[in-house]
Amino acid sequence: MPQWLKDAVFYEIYPQTFCDTNGDGIGDIAGIISKLDYVKSLGCNAIWLNPIFDSPFMDAGYDVRNYKLVAERYGTNDDLVELFNKAHEKGIKILLDLVPGHTSDQCEWFIESQKPEKNEFSNRYTWTDSVWEAPPQYKFVCGITNRDGNYLVNFFSSQPALNYGFAEITHPNWQLPPSHPDCQATVEAMKDVMRFWLDKGADGFRVDMADSLVKNEDGEKPETCKVWRNIRKMLDEEYPEAAIISEWSRPHTSIGAGFHSDFYLDHDNNGYRYLFREKDKETGECKAVFSKNGKGDITKFLDDYLDELKAIKGKGYISFITCNHDTPRMTKMFSPLEAKLAYSFVFLMPGVPFLYYGDEIGMKFMEGLQSKEGGFSRTGTRTPMQWDDSANHGFSTASADKLYLPVDTSADAPTVSAQEKDEDSILNTIRKVIKLRHENEDLQSDGDFEVVYAESGKYPFIFKRGKFVIAVNPTDKEQKAPCKFDGEQVFAIGKACVENEEITMLPQSLVVIKVD
Ligand code: NOJ
Repeated sequence: MPQWLKDAVFYEIYPQTFCDTNGDGIGDIAGIISKLDYVKSLGCNAIWLNPIFDSPFMDAGYDVRNYKLVAERYGTNDDLVELFNKAHEKGIKILLDLVPGHTSDQCEWFIESQKPEKNEFSNRYTWTDSVWEAPPQYKFVCGITNRDGNYLVNFFSSQPALNYGFAEITHPNWQLPPSHPDCQATVEAMKDVMRFWLDKGADGFRVDMADSLVKNEDGEKPETCKVWRNIRKMLDEEYPEAAIISEWSRPHTSIGAGFHSDFYLDHDNNGYRYLFREKDKETGECKAVFSKNGKGDITKFLDDYLDELKAIKGKGYISFITCNHDTPRMTKMFSPLEAKLAYSFVFLMPGVPFLYYGDEIGMKFMEGLQSKEGGFSRTGTRTPMQWDDSANHGFSTASADKLYLPVDTSADAPTVSAQEKDEDSILNTIRKVIKLRHENEDLQSDGDFEVVYAESGKYPFIFKRGKFVIAVNPTDKEQKAPCKFDGEQVFAIGKACVENEEITMLPQSLVVIKVD
């Protein structure tokens, strides 16, 4: 286990819209380097960079054309190495985004694979053995190459699935077992990509669709897990300080497969959804715990979360996120104060937390934008970072019509420069809570988590982490609960007090009490 994960706090950067230094309307590596001190000022000591590799950008770079080349629009491989070095000088780790499940249909491997003549890459992807064969349970692209067969896709049609084999073989004429040398060659090719960047100074990878490798398996996915255990073994032997964090959202499976941490993502009936995004299926009314309307149910979150936490304790982590590039920002549903409470909570939980760029100032989800690079409904979460009051909020000197996506020009668009000046801004609140986390091991990744008060349909929610008790009342009403703990309040949003073994919390408050 890389020791640095114990106190890691990540900042996710969507490179397209973070900071543009050459005025072409799109962010670049030099821009990220120029903002490292800012990232550090947040208390973040690690960065997850969304894909920055050569790509036709049909899916914002998750369609990799060349795994070993930085996309020209962001800079060069040397620029990326400079980012690693500068970040390391400041005590910041960098995770790249590894996309092992598919490539772009323009990737050299796929170009070779399309050829009718048998070659090294023929089985790098999954092809049926005739264009007339396309079993409907799979997503195939049919009849567009000279090879007599259809290829399986992993996500969009431009993203052919890399071939790691099939756990259950239902069509022996074209499905290979994971142990087949050609499937093993795919695993080795991915290891080669990892070594390439780790040797240059990367600190590990966020792994895209980590559960999607071996086909025809559900549940615990033993064959996909086997692939990851194989990769983890290589890391343990060759790069013991490199971290891998999975997009899987099933920690009890992914941590067993060798990941150091797994994202807790927004899925139907999971704990993350109940905390931050639950809606009534018929009326659309918000039923998230963190909504001020008080209609959430904390026990639904705990039912899911506590089992996962127990399963992975001592073996790996669960990563809470404020948001990511695939999900609407919380401000789509929440007011700035609701979001401030929700974001603060993220940094008070065990595991390795992630802050999505712009959430630290409460950037909005921008409605009504046309899709960009396969963003579709995700596009409004990917707009340019709002630094200051200058043109394009300081993101770029390009004219507004040249920007990757429009900046938020509304009168109340938050900016870093404005929030720097306000003690109570989301920005400064998040800085305080992250600082508190760094100063106290009990609040970091490995610290304990114990429920103190959580009742269905009631507020507040109170939990304990070592010597700290955290109580949160996201509702717009005063709430009371039994609480035998008291001491110094070391962090507070709003007000709360403990008297006669009862805590009274004013509307929309969160306190961290250091127990005497
Ligand atoms: C998950 C990524 O986060 C998302 O942005 C991408 O579109 C898909 N995987 C496909 O790679």
